[in-house]
Amino acid sequence: MNIGSKEIERILIVDDEPANLKLLDKMLGSQGYQDLLLISDPREVIACYQSARPDIILLDINMPYLDGYQVMEQLKTLNDPLLPPIVILTAQSGKDYLLRALAAGARDFITKPFDRNELLMRVRNLLDAQLAHRLIHDQKNVLEKMIQKRTEELRHSRLQVVQRLGMAAEYRDEETGDHILRMSHISALLAKSAGWDEAQCELILNASPMHDIGKIGIPDAILLKPGKFEPNEWEIMKTHAAIGGKLLDGDDSDLMKMAREIALSHHEKWDGSGYPGRLAGESIPQAGRIAALADVFDALTSVRPYKKAWTIEAAVDMIKENSGKHFDPALVELFIQELDSIIKIRERFSESKDHAT
Ligand SMILES: [Fe+2]
Ligand SMILES: [Fe+2]
Repeated sequence: MNIGSKEIERILIVDDEPANLKLLDKMLGSQGYQDLLLISDPREVIACYQSARPDIILLDINMPYLDGYQVMEQLKTLNDPLLPPIVILTAQSGKDYLLRALAAGARDFITKPFDRNELLMRVRNLLDAQLAHRLIHDQKNVLEKMIQKRTEELRHSRLQVVQRLGMAAEYRDEETGDHILRMSHISALLAKSAGWDEAQCELILNASPMHDIGKIGIPDAILLKPGKFEPNEWEIMKTHAAIGGKLLDGDDSDLMKMAREIALSHHEKWDGSGYPGRLAGESIPQAGRIAALADVFDALTSVRPYKKAWTIEAAVDMIKENSGKHFDPALVELFIQELDSIIKIRERFSESKDHAT
């Protein structure tokens, strides 16, 4: 038992013979063991064990109601990683008999009549081993908790960096502040609808805000141009996907890997006419296909310096028309099915009245 830093060892002794209990009590008590629990009815062992948490159990084998093997079986079912060593008290010393006891979970045995020195030495050794075992177990728990906390802190700070990076790209683009919020939530919704598990959906929620991070590398004169792009300007504008891919390269966390995948592929098109890789169909990563749909829908239905907001109906029509051309047809179907929830996301993340309703 733990009292401050000092350990007081608690010993549970189970024997149906009161004379044996008395004798063991005397032998151990004279050696300074003060915390002794004596039980003559084996049916009380489990309740006593659970409330008193002894450091060692001395257990008779032949007892009424439950024999020592059955008591060990009961103790085993508790699945306690700190189950203390069990020492069998026995008058028999046959090999088979002892093997059976060891197989049932006993760590050692003491033959009756008890030899005082033998008893004390065996109890001392096993108690030391148990205390060391518990110490290691406690330290392991403390370490695991520390690691968990550190991992959570790292996850949180990585998320912060990622979200701020997404915001940095937004500032440059003069897109509305809510665009990345909406498109990332729509992306997560579509991912869920496509059968992704919860962890993957959270990943796309956090990775998709960086889809346009590469716009950091596009000159203002092009990025902020109100009118239409000249062909050469358009070529430069298109490089934002590859720039984003490069910016997010070299980190092997799942989050950064997905962010890179989306930055690189969110302008690829199902029919192979997109950029930068002219990938087609399922060779476009699914995260990129999802982000493309969410991104385009939100951009269409939002006001931009160069255009008015489209109505939801017009945007949905355009998406349907482009199923199998720009967009993954299976995702377009899911998009239509989820339209009500998608509209709700738009309403939830619209502080400004910049979009169609
Ligand atoms: Fe983009
Ligand atoms: Fe976007």
